[in-house]
This record gives sequence, C-alpha cells and structure tokens, in this order.
Amino acid sequence: MRQVLIKKDLDELSSSAAELFVQIANASIADNDSFLVALAGGSTPRKCYEKLASEYRKAVEWDKVWFFFGDERNVPPDSEESNYKMANDALLRPLEISAGRVNRWITEIKSVDDAAQHYGNITLAIAFAAAGRGFDLMMLGLGADGHTASLFPHSPALNETKGLAVANWVEELGAFRFTVTFPVINQASNVILLASGEEKAKAIAAILEGKFDPEEYPAQNVKPVDGNVYWLIDEPAAGLLSTR
Ligand code: 6PG
Repeated sequence: MRQVLIKKDLDELSSSAAELFVQIANASIADNDSFLVALAGGSTPRKCYEKLASEYRKAVEWDKVWFFFGDERNVPPDSEESNYKMANDALLRPLEISAGRVNRWITEIKSVDDAAQHYGNITLAIAFAAAGRGFDLMMLGLGADGHTASLFPHSPALNETKGLAVANWVEELGAFRFTVTFPVINQASNVILLASGEEKAKAIAAILEGKFDPEEYPAQNVKPVDGNVYWLIDEPAAGLLSTR
C-alpha cells in the first residue's frame, strides 16, 4: 500500500514522521516484543529524530528497539559526514540507547567491500535470522537526483539482487557509499520516505507521476513486496505534483 502525505513544512513533516514511527514501533513491539528499524541519513530526518528523543520520548519502549542504518558514508563514525553521528547526536545518545542495540556500519574496516560484507552477511543476516523477519520500518530520504539510501542513478548497486549490503561506487561523488540493497528495502513491513524542500520537487513529480525509469530515479524501485510505503513530503517538495 502506498500513501502520499503532504505536510505544510519540515516541522509538520517531522512531527508526522515521528507519530508514524511511534505507531509502527508500538505495533511491532505488541506483535513481536521487538522493533527493527533502519534509520535514514542526510539532514531531513534530523528534526524527526530530535522530536522522538524529546516530545515522543515516553511513547516507545526504547529498550525493545534495535537500530540499523540504511546507508553510510565512507567516513569514520565521529565524522560530521557520518549518518551514524547525525543519528547518535539527535536520537541515540539523548535516549541513552545501549551500544548493543545500535548496529552501525563498521567503516573502520579498511576494504570497502569487507565493510559492506560485514554489514550484510553478519550484522543484517544475523538480525533478520534471529527476528525471523526483515525491517519493521525502513526510513529513507530522497536526493534531488532521485536517489534513496545510497542507491544513486545509474550506479552498480541498483541491480544488486543477492547481497543485502554493498559498497556502491558513486561517479558523481567520486566516492564509495555503503548501502542496503533494494531486496532489503522491499522486504520491510513499512517504509517511510521523507522529502522536504523545493529542490526535491522535480524528483518527487517524476517519481510519483512520471514514467517508470528506476535507473534515472532509483526511488521508484521502493515497492515493499508485502508492506506499506508512506511518502511524507512537505508543500515545497510537492510543488510540481498535478494531483494534490
Ligand atoms: C545520505 C542519505 C541520502 C539522503 C538524501 C537526502 O547518506 O545522504 O542516505 O539518501 O537521504 O541524499 O539528503 P538530505 O536529507 O540531506 O536532503
């Protein structure tokens, strides 16, 4: 099931995302006594994380939540570029989440392929086997070029159907990025995809209303096999949609 939810601005978007996060988390904890969530990186989710750690702090049994990351930059965990650092500053440390329940990419591993194999074949594989399921919630952002996680247009990882996690060479960045693959994303029970700001409007319109071209707009491949996807976008990002 796909829902497109348009909110006034980033603040309203972040509150709605936090409320949806809480709702999904509590449903999962009620069913499974645990909640497996992959956090998104970039800047858009930060306000949602800050709200979860403050206004919504008491709304979830945080000691039943297992945190993962949908993607990561090829940087140390204390780098300002690190998705882990952003989430740790905004959410994990303020909530005093124990390190044992935070599964970050071990970017200190020298070889990018070894680091990706570690995350896919050990971290994710063991977690999914132990839980008997994939992510209960996959949080994602959207780049102005239509990328999501670190699945960039025309990049090798778009066609990865076996591995759970890869090191993806991103030509336009001249760098490797770590990312889960579409099989992982589409095995999730719920996906929340956040997009805020006018610079995302062209990609949003192309993805939601344009022709299917996932090499050009990888986020078009976010189609949970048996799950819900919530496109949470603000008015500026929805500005070019015809159906609003
Ligand atoms: C990353 C993210 C990436 C991000 C988009 C949007 O590592 O940067 O995983 O997919 O969600 O690039 O980034 P902003 O939220 O900063 O616009």
